[in-house]
Amino acid sequence: MAKRVQSLSEQGKFDEAIKLMIRMSEGYKKVVDMFPDNTKEGFGTEALPTIWEDKENFNQLMVKTSDDLIKLTSLIKNTDNIEATLGQFMWGNCKACHNKYREEH
Ligand code: HEC
Repeated sequence: MAKRVQSLSEQGKFDEAIKLMIRMSEGYKKVVDMFPDNTKEGFGTEALPTIWEDKENFNQLMVKTSDDLIKLTSLIKNTDNIEATLGQFMWGNCKACHNKYREEH
């Protein structure tokens, strides 16, 4: 979905891009609840056990990603550098979390 946000933004289709940003933002808020302390299984096979050892930090990253996507909805139309803005407010958050909590493959 993030790739689609990028290509829509680059085409100047901001209204569509913004709709997706909002959907993603809501999605990340829900993910916070998908890793409950008592299951330790997540929803797939690529989640590293460090998530549960470091749950608070993980949740904060999710909430930040969600918040930044909302900021992005108002920034994207006015930026003169779409790529850098997406990098800072979207991709940077994905990477920060994946580097730490997602298995390499
Ligand atoms: C706070 C942590 C966190 C953030 C932020 C995050 N991810 Fe992830 N992501 C994960 C974890 C953990 C997995 C592995 C989950 C699993 O396999 O159960 C994953 C898996 C994925 C996968 C592969 C699994 C699938 O469903 O296909 C994709 C694609 C992905 N993330 C995209 C993104 C993108 C794009 C962003 C940023 C817009 C992002 N993620 C932000 C933690 C995060």
